[in-house]
Amino acid sequence: MNIAILCSGGDSSGMNNAIKKFVEYSYELGFTPYFVYKGLEGLIDGDIKKAEYKDVSGIIYRGGTVIKSARSIRWYDKNYRKKAFENIKKHNIDALVILGGDGSFRALNIFYNEFKVPFMGIPATIDNDIPLNEYSIGVDTALNIIRNAVDDIRDTASSFSRAFVIETMGRECGYLALTSAVANGAEMCLIPEEEYNLENLKKRYLKEIKNGRDYFIAIIAEGLKISEKIKEWFEKEIGFESRLTVLGHIQRGGSPTVIERLRASEFVVTALDNIKNNPNKIVTYFDDKFILRDLEEIESSTYSLDKKLLKIAYPLMGKE
Ligand code: F6P
Repeated sequence: MNIAILCSGGDSSGMNNAIKKFVEYSYELGFTPYFVYKGLEGLIDGDIKKAEYKDVSGIIYRGGTVIKSARSIRWYDKNYRKKAFENIKKHNIDALVILGGDGSFRALNIFYNEFKVPFMGIPATIDNDIPLNEYSIGVDTALNIIRNAVDDIRDTASSFSRAFVIETMGRECGYLALTSAVANGAEMCLIPEEEYNLENLKKRYLKEIKNGRDYFIAIIAEGLKISEKIKEWFEKEIGFESRLTVLGHIQRGGSPTVIERLRASEFVVTALDNIKNNPNKIVTYFDDKFILRDLEEIESSTYSLDKKLLKIAYPLMGKE
């Protein structure tokens, strides 16, 4: 079988580990691996090349993706998908492996329904917002980058009496903010999925200030779009000089952590072991196992954050 791999949407650290394992394990299984450069855009433009061992040497510690990624608008036009299919035929590609989020999986599912090109989806997004999947490639590295950033900010925060508002990525999903707030001992955690009560937080903070607290760390998910407002709130309501740090794209880069490297490899092994006899599945990580699921199953579920973690974080949202 000729199998091609592509990355789609926001890149994430660990994609290179998946790409490396994809090439090595494909050859091990007797498949011929191909790269599609620049995601779905590359499929449309025929940017496809046979992959060799030498293409993946020395990439194991590098963030990003050596085959590049893209967000494709053209894909939603059937004429371009037809063009992509012609390129697939030209290179005799039998199946596709895609690293990305659920939007990328949907894109290939549409393609399968139209042209019957089998695929396997592997979750890779720092947002970690795929239902029935507890870990996506890139999440652990992003959490570690946030941890380092918060530790560094804490140094300067403790040198002044200031409040530091730190905005994490994640689109509409508060996973990064929630996990980081608990892991980094933040005083505030605001996420799109949960209501918050600033009055309760104010009461608590004022009491804590009386007892000697002299700085604050607040972690806010970008999806709420209120980071600037919270910075002002600390100034006006709490009387603390405050600063806002938007962590931004540093969360998407960095050398992949050990967990990332291991799981990226396991995702790929599971995908390739099943691509011939059980294709058109998403490999999910759930309850410490790699489980194949239909896209329909994923789409009919809604993503939910870990309830135990939420409970720990409720006081940081001002919830009783
Ligand atoms: O989906 C991954 C992500 O990093 C989001 O967390 C963020 O909102 C978005 O992508 C940023 O997109 P771009 O790289 O296009 O600025």
